[in-house]
Amino acid sequence: MSYFGRDDETLLSDDERCAVQDTECGVEIEDGVVIERRSILWLSAAAVSSMLVGAVSLPAQDPKPAPTPPDRTGPQEGMGKLTHAEFLEQLYPQARRLVDSKGEDEQAYLMTVAAAMSRLRDPKAPIRDAMRKFSKQHRKQGERFPIGVMAIHLKPGKGFSHHDHLNYNGVIMGLEGEARIRNYDFQGNVPAIDSPDTFEIRETRDDLILPGRFSSLGKKRENIHDLVAGKKGARVLDVFTFFAKNATSRSLIVADKPRDAETRTFEATWRPRRRRQR
Ligand SMILES: [Fe+2]
Repeated sequence: MSYFGRDDETLLSDDERCAVQDTECGVEIEDGVVIERRSILWLSAAAVSSMLVGAVSLPAQDPKPAPTPPDRTGPQEGMGKLTHAEFLEQLYPQARRLVDSKGEDEQAYLMTVAAAMSRLRDPKAPIRDAMRKFSKQHRKQGERFPIGVMAIHLKPGKGFSHHDHLNYNGVIMGLEGEARIRNYDFQGNVPAIDSPDTFEIRETRDDLILPGRFSSLGKKRENIHDLVAGKKGARVLDVFTFFAKNATSRSLIVADKPRDAETRTFEATWRPRRRRQR
């Protein structure tokens, strides 16, 4: 199952994928998996240009605290911490450069995103309003600007089965509870999505994500994962960066036992897509 819930299956069809904007809070997209808040931004080339002018680099790689913008007033608690609005403002030009370069220095970007997430002043606070405001300020018809932020609540023992992330990457930060996340690489040739042929994937990570800990995957690197909450459930914050309009997730069926236990290589097939009832 992908992160894109049942309600978005239509939007993520072959004809019109990823036409996703703000969605409602608290949507249960899988049994025991609830998206608490979510926004995916669409911005025009003009907005991109305006944002890139004078863009501020994410200071996550800078050991000094982030400077306070001169036009920002009010108490400045938690020096070096980021509000959600500041996080989005700083992430945007970095994401745009990554997409424009077709993924150049993606790993550095992902680490920068994670560092910035770790600096969120209140990562558990709703980000929906900040996303809406940001989108309203910058969105224009035309180009999709691909930043997505999603908070997910996973009930005990629930989660997402194996799925990939076609043309997008992501960073997950634990907020509450714990979740087990396993990542995989594609191995060799991968058949078309409608093919029943078997292919191989290799498990590369088996992580326990606790509050403040991270999991990431790249456009190619470790692009497959599954995640399951622990006995007390979990809340995680997920930040996506999309490279193309057709960015989407596809579900896999993965063998229970590895074909090669030493290399942790598993046989897999694409899970047949559900047909919508008319
Ligand atoms: Fe995922």
